[in-house]
Amino acid sequence: MNILVTGGAGYIGSHTCVELLNAGEQVIVLDNFSNAKPEALNRVINITGQQMITIEGDIRDAALLETIFSQHNIDAVLHFAGLKAVGESTMDPLNYYDNNVNGSLCLLRAMQKHGVKTLIFSSSATVYGDPDSVPIFESSPLRATNPYGQTKLVIELMCQHWVESNSEVSVTLLRYFNPVGAHDSGTLGEDPQGVPSNLMPFIAQVAVGKRKSLSIFGDDYDTPDGTGVRDYIHVVDLAQGHVAALKQRNEQAGCHVFNLGTGQGVSVLEMVTEFSKVTGQDIPYQIAARRPGDIAQCYASSQRARLELDWSSKRELQQMIADTWHWQRLNPDGYV
Ligand code: NAD
Ligand code: UD1
Repeated sequence: MNILVTGGAGYIGSHTCVELLNAGEQVIVLDNFSNAKPEALNRVINITGQQMITIEGDIRDAALLETIFSQHNIDAVLHFAGLKAVGESTMDPLNYYDNNVNGSLCLLRAMQKHGVKTLIFSSSATVYGDPDSVPIFESSPLRATNPYGQTKLVIELMCQHWVESNSEVSVTLLRYFNPVGAHDSGTLGEDPQGVPSNLMPFIAQVAVGKRKSLSIFGDDYDTPDGTGVRDYIHVVDLAQGHVAALKQRNEQAGCHVFNLGTGQGVSVLEMVTEFSKVTGQDIPYQIAARRPGDIAQCYASSQRARLELDWSSKRELQQMIADTWHWQRLNPDGYV
């Protein structure tokens, strides 16, 4: 199949390109490189030994989309392109609505015009907000608490309405929990710009000596050790979840929703302890104030994906840490 991968040069998109190429698919990447480097795509080609088509451009460029859909016989779209920083989204919400919502609208319009019926969309566990209970099921209440999360909800709703209006369209909404880790070659990984806001890349930068110490945001949550609990999932497992979704849902009309997580909660302190154990590196830390907007705990029920996509995560926490560390040591400054 010919698969258009928007945002394919990014962290999750690049790992998914590897899995798609390994599965024998033809890949066409569309990325504006606003948060990625072309080098990531060279690494994908080196890992797989296969070629793909790269187009530099924006999903909001309707003329460009028209050219792409006219020139390539696209069978399905995997849509990763978007902005994802929660803090930034509260400071510049209009840019988030433009990039994420307007961008997705342009993409869906082009798909509709060219009769492309299968879409897999990168949603997020952030759509559940502060959950009433854990584990979180796909049917749990949806309540985003920041502009980034709200853009994901609006896009989900737009997809739902599109499906309702067109009995041939297949949309799969994948709600990711916390992606971490890197490709086991150590050549592909997360390359955050500036100070990382997520836990795993921050710890990795402390371990490699780029930052002095980690601030643990709050130790007074209602969790076993007082620190925040999350469902960390290896990015390669996540990438393979997309291939599973494509296989099981391609051209199966309807709107399908899946959590992609491990179903296991891990606290910040557990992560720090385990990181030290696996890597042998000391991770200095201090307890700091809670981060505004943070929740106590969040982990998935991964049952539906297991039953309906025949997919479950395979890689344990130790592997997530070992692969993060391998990538960080080989690429202390990312893709530069
Ligand atoms: P990323 O920033 O590494 O990748 C996004 C890619 O999209 C980048 O390569 C960027 O250059 C590109 N892009 C952004 N806007 C674009 C536009 N208008 N046109 C073309 N390309 C554009 O992020 P990621 O971590 O790989 O996340 C991928 C998707 O998964 C995003 O939609 C994100 O919201 C979602 N998601 C990520 C996480 C996470 O923790 N990483 C969690 C849940 C959901
Ligand atoms: C963040 C986003 C969320 C997004 C998710 C995955 C916020 C408020 N939420 O959530 O929308 O879907 O990433 O990309 O940004 N922590 C520290 N010190 C740090 C960094 C994090 O103690 O320097 C703690 C946090 O308080 C949290 C845990 O580590 O308890 C995980 O944090 P993070 O990696 O940012 O993920 P989320 O909070 O789940």
